[in-house]
Amino acid sequence: AHPIKVGLLGLGVVGGGTWKVLNQNAEEIARRAGRRIEVAAVAVRDIEKARRLVGDDILVVQDGAQVATHPDIDIVVELMGGHSLARDWIMQAIAHGKHVVTANKALLAEYGNEIFAAAQAKGVMVAFEAAVAGGIPIVKAIREGLAANRIQWLAGIINGTTNFILSEMRARGEPFTEALAEAQRLGYAEADPTFDVEGIDAAHKLTLLASLAFGIPVQFDKAYTEGIARLAQEDLAHAERLGYRVKLLGITRRRPEGIELRVHPTLVPAENMLASVQGAMNAVLVQGDAVGPTLYYGQGAGALPTASAVVADLVDVTRLQAADPGHQVPPLAFQPDAMDDTPVLPM
Ligand code: NDP
Ligand code: HSE
Repeated sequence: AHPIKVGLLGLGVVGGGTWKVLNQNAEEIARRAGRRIEVAAVAVRDIEKARRLVGDDILVVQDGAQVATHPDIDIVVELMGGHSLARDWIMQAIAHGKHVVTANKALLAEYGNEIFAAAQAKGVMVAFEAAVAGGIPIVKAIREGLAANRIQWLAGIINGTTNFILSEMRARGEPFTEALAEAQRLGYAEADPTFDVEGIDAAHKLTLLASLAFGIPVQFDKAYTEGIARLAQEDLAHAERLGYRVKLLGITRRRPEGIELRVHPTLVPAENMLASVQGAMNAVLVQGDAVGPTLYYGQGAGALPTASAVVADLVDVTRLQAADPGHQVPPLAFQPDAMDDTPVLPM
């Protein structure tokens, strides 16, 4: 089979990681996907910088629309972030019948319903494993591994930057601003780190997880969101003396009257598994009625772990497309016409 051609929108931390993983594990990836997966085009702001990484054989442009609509591209991978251009180019890719892989939880939390509906109407896939909990295959776990279950609740550490900051503040007494600067240097933080420290990024991810777990539309505006910016060193020390650790948790649960959706700093008993999650690691507990409690753990941010999830989606999309070249496969994400109307509770 001829190679599958990928267009990358963005070649920064995650895009660069994706380029690296696709190249360093090309043989394994081709075996698993059934075809080689090759990057054919890239959109970035700084063309010279991108050329130094990808060489001269690949189309490098600033206008992502050229990548999103290019006739040779099979899958468009959006790794640039933001709402406006990313949304426009993804919608153009879908309109041109291309599958989409994205790590952009902010975009999906705000415009996911519209994007998934457009994809379903066109018979293409929108895959987003990398948008939630970095390298942990949590989307796949909920969508496939737990498909037999009525999910009752899930809770976890789903932002690497804030967990890194809390870990550094507690272990080394590092000031908040220095720990944040280090998280930025390591490529964990969002372009606007307010999204991390105010709990917004975790709420974006929780919104997507709740949609998958409960089959409800994406409803970010209903999430209660509180971050870690007002926490001081003394708060962490007090919690420690009382036998707790402070963790920023995302929690969603089914209650008789509706679904709870909340992100806030939480006192976690020191002996609880979540208390020992350090640095940019993430961990998500999911409770299903048949399976009971399950735990997913791994690196929640950073170039290669996130690229691992992006490339896993590329393999999935490639295999599904090969199985059904007419694109009549169910979307890898939501089926907007099969949504549950259970309300999300006001906070
Ligand atoms: P970076 O800032 O490192 O990279 C962004 C890339 O997009 C850069 O290559 C940049 O080009 C390109 N870009 C941005 N705006 C434009 C534009 N208007 N036109 C063309 N190219 C543009 O971001 P990250 O890699 O960290 O994040 C990318 C996405 O992945 C975001 O949605 C983020 O939320 C998500 N994500 C990030 C994770 C992480 O650990 N960093 C983990 C999981 C998800 P140039 O290089 O020329 O500036
Ligand atoms: N800024 C995000 C985090 C990146 O720190 O978790 C991974 O989604």
